[in-house]
Amino acid sequence: MEAGEFPLSDKEFARIRERVYKIAGISLSDAKRTLVVSRLSKIVRTLGLPSFSAYIDYLEAKGSAEDDQVFVNALTTNLTRFFREDHHFDHLVSHVGNLMSERPRMSRGRPRLRIWSAGCSTGQEPYTIALCLLAAFPDLKRWDFRILATDIDSNVVARAATGVYPIGELNGLSAARAALFEKAGPDTIRIPQAARDVISFKLLNLIEPWPVKGPFDAIFCRNVAIYFDKPTQGVLFDRLGHVLAPDGFLYIGHSENLQAVSKGYRLVGKTIYQLKANSNAKDAA
Ligand SMILES: C[S@@+](CC[C@H](N)C(=O)[O-])C[C@H]1O[C@@H](n2cnc3c(N)ncnc32)[C@H](O)[C@@H]1O
Repeated sequence: MEAGEFPLSDKEFARIRERVYKIAGISLSDAKRTLVVSRLSKIVRTLGLPSFSAYIDYLEAKGSAEDDQVFVNALTTNLTRFFREDHHFDHLVSHVGNLMSERPRMSRGRPRLRIWSAGCSTGQEPYTIALCLLAAFPDLKRWDFRILATDIDSNVVARAATGVYPIGELNGLSAARAALFEKAGPDTIRIPQAARDVISFKLLNLIEPWPVKGPFDAIFCRNVAIYFDKPTQGVLFDRLGHVLAPDGFLYIGHSENLQAVSKGYRLVGKTIYQLKANSNAKDAA
């Protein structure tokens, strides 16, 4: 039992765990008990309820979709930063460089380039992708170039869409990288309009059906599956294989291991994967 304004019993923790797993696929370990208390207490208080049991009863009996959204938003972990695991962006620039030389010859209209940042949090990942590619390839302005950036947490998607960040987000970046951003105010930076224009931010739950078609030339699904159990990770990566282009790349987080859960990919770089030849994650699953 956790002490505090609202003590958390084992049974209450088990019910919360079950609900967030069912809705979002997120697997909360025992180590997350304190996090659960600190994140959910404010909601219980705001609703004027006496306990976590009463809160879960409320969600189960008469909670709306919005109540579930507030519940899930409170339990996601949104840590991210610009140029996180930066070798992925160097690799992507080299991949897109190859496409820039091949694709125009093979396209009738404007050549197409599609990238998905799945689990984009507050937007630093998709903005880094856009900034790197637009800086490396000015010709992309003439392409049909779109980045889809999605997350289950409505708060982070709304924050991402503003394109404005505290200036401290630039700490640790080289001068050349910092120069890709605009100054918005004394303490804030803004993403240049050209980079904002190529990104669509959307609310999307990765464990539900996706209204996305693909094929994507690159999918970034980094530091997201780490919150899922192995079967959920396997299903997710297999499904991503359905919408990844045969010559596309899947980028995952540094502590994630795709090969333990999905058989359809081969490792081609540090946490970088491609579909196996003549294969699709779906067929190999
Ligand atoms: C740690 S952040 C990773 C952000 C970014 N990809 C990176 O690597 O910096 C994990 C994100 O996954 C999102 N997430 C967790 N479960 C999800 C689900 N079922 N569907 C979509 N997004 C989910 C969280 O809301 C959170 O913003």
